[in-house]
This record gives sequence, C-alpha cells and structure tokens, in this order.
Amino acid sequence: MATMADVARHAGVSVATVSHVLNATRPVRPATRDAVRVAIDELGYTHNTLARSLVTSRTKSIGLAVSAISNPYFTEIFQGVEASTLQAGYSLLIVDPHDDPEHELKAVRLLHERRVDGMIVAPSAAPGAMLDHLDRMKVPTVFLDRLVGDAYDQVCAENEAPMARLVAHLAERGHTRIALIAGTPGLSTTTERVAGYRTGLAEAGLPYRPELVVDGNSQAAGAERATHHLLGLDRPPTALVTANNAMTIGALQALRATGRSAPGDMALACFDDFSWADLFEPRLTAIAQPSRDIGAAAVGLLLDRLADPDRAPRTLRLPCAFVHRGSCGCTD
Ligand code: HPA
Repeated sequence: MATMADVARHAGVSVATVSHVLNATRPVRPATRDAVRVAIDELGYTHNTLARSLVTSRTKSIGLAVSAISNPYFTEIFQGVEASTLQAGYSLLIVDPHDDPEHELKAVRLLHERRVDGMIVAPSAAPGAMLDHLDRMKVPTVFLDRLVGDAYDQVCAENEAPMARLVAHLAERGHTRIALIAGTPGLSTTTERVAGYRTGLAEAGLPYRPELVVDGNSQAAGAERATHHLLGLDRPPTALVTANNAMTIGALQALRATGRSAPGDMALACFDDFSWADLFEPRLTAIAQPSRDIGAAAVGLLLDRLADPDRAPRTLRLPCAFVHRGSCGCTD
C-alpha cells in the first residue's frame, strides 16, 4: 500500500507538502497541488484520517443532530450544512434525535463518543439534559433553528416580524377573526411566532382572542385536529395562519375533509415556503425561510469556534421573505 512518503517522492515534493495538500493546513501552489493529486491517483494512495486523528486529536468531522430530516425545511438545512462541511474538508456524522429529549441526549452522546470535533444541533423543546452533557464535555456546539440562550452559538430565521407580516396582510384584507395554528410549546420558534401573531394583531388594532390560538404540535396530524377544532367554534375564524409547512398540510387536509377550500371558505397564510407551495391550489402565500443559509451559517459559526474556542458566543438571525400568492384571497 502506497504511503505518504511514496506520494512525496513520486510528486517530487516533501512529505510536509503532501500533508498540507491533504489536510488543507497551509496554502500550496496550484501546480504543486496538482502534482500531488496526480501522484495520489497514480499510486492509489488513500489518506488514513484515523491515524492522523491520533496525532492531532482532531477527527475533522462534525456531528449533525436534526430531527424530521424528511421535512423539506430540515432537508434544505442539511444541504446547507453538508455543502459547507465538505468545502471545509470535514466529514459529517448525522443522527436523528426524533425531537425527543431522551433520544436527543443519546444522540449527542453517540456523536461525542465518535469524537466529532464539534456539533450542530437543532434542539428539542426540553434540551436541558443535553445542554448539561455538552457543557460538561466541553463540546464545541452550534444550535440551529431553535434558540437555547445567549451563552451559546446559535443561528435561526427571523420569526416574529415575518409572522406579524402574515397577520397584517390578512387584517388588511378585512379579516378580524384570524386564527393561529401554533407549533410545539417550548420551542423558541413557537414562542416567537406566537409573539409575532400577537404583534400583528395589535398593530392592526385587533384584539387577541386565546380561543383562536390552537396547538398543532408542529405536525400535520396536530394541525388537522386543530383546524377541525377551530371550524367547530361557535364563531369560527375567517382566516388561518399556520406556523410551519407540515401544519399547512394538516390545515388543508381538514379544510378538504369538511368540503371547504381556501381562500373562498377560509383565507390561509403560511409560515414556511416549500417547492410545491406554488403548485398547490390555491397557490400558498407564505414566508420563505433561508434554510440552506441557516445550515451554512451554522457551519461557519462552528468553524470559527473551533479556530478560536474563547471567542464570545454569537446569535445570528437570518431574514425571511414574504411570498405573495393566492391563498390569502388576493387575486393579483
Ligand atoms: N422550525 C422552523 N421551521 C420549521 C420547522 C421548525 O421546527 N418545521 C418546519 N418548518
């Protein structure tokens, strides 16, 4: 089996130069880098990252703990994380904490046992035990989507202002009974989107009616139940805001099951855009989150943290976009 020394001899460079090319530890002139790559190919050399990690105590790997990866929002976050990780020369280990605190603790333990250099975690609604573990083990970690506190590096989308924008838009169309199907209690995204709903109502001069805010548990089934509940009220809402993409699906299912449609029977505006939102009938008026950018920003924060373990923690909030289509009842 070819060694690094063989590659160096073949390429006419030093072993240190081969190492810099392989580990991206120092810039190497393009011609030299190409010569090393050719030698690697011709000799069939494979880099032993495990041997290297014994020397450096770094594994050049990052752990990613994200639930509901089948949800397009999280799939896009994953794509952003993956592309940036690869570009930085790191490999990625992925676990699914199933949005469950016990599972979450096991998942980050497992990543730590694999000696990842750092982690990116979308925390559950009750992340206390996991945070204690990460603090004790001093694992460099970045949290995404759901915030856990200023003492940590974290990145998320703006939630409050975009949600207020959806409510304001429905109010401008004359709706006074606007309901919210909210996410799982305890998630910062839920808290902030509920706050945004209240801000939107207040700015439009509408009263907050607690009976019009229903927990959809961040999932389609929960939102379907919540929508049936809202439709059964003595005075049902005339407009509905859903706090994420999965809950939009659930709300649409409930409308269809009761022979209703949006926007004719119920105006609808959604937090979260997804690739099919433009193909739905009606086309969905939605807030588009910068999901790929959130993933990429999380990797950036983690790489900064690895390079400078003592720097002050940072919270990044990325802006969303309002995508105006037809489900709100507008025709232009
Ligand atoms: N957070 C933010 N946006 C989302 C989520 C979530 O958990 N699920 C779907 N869209």
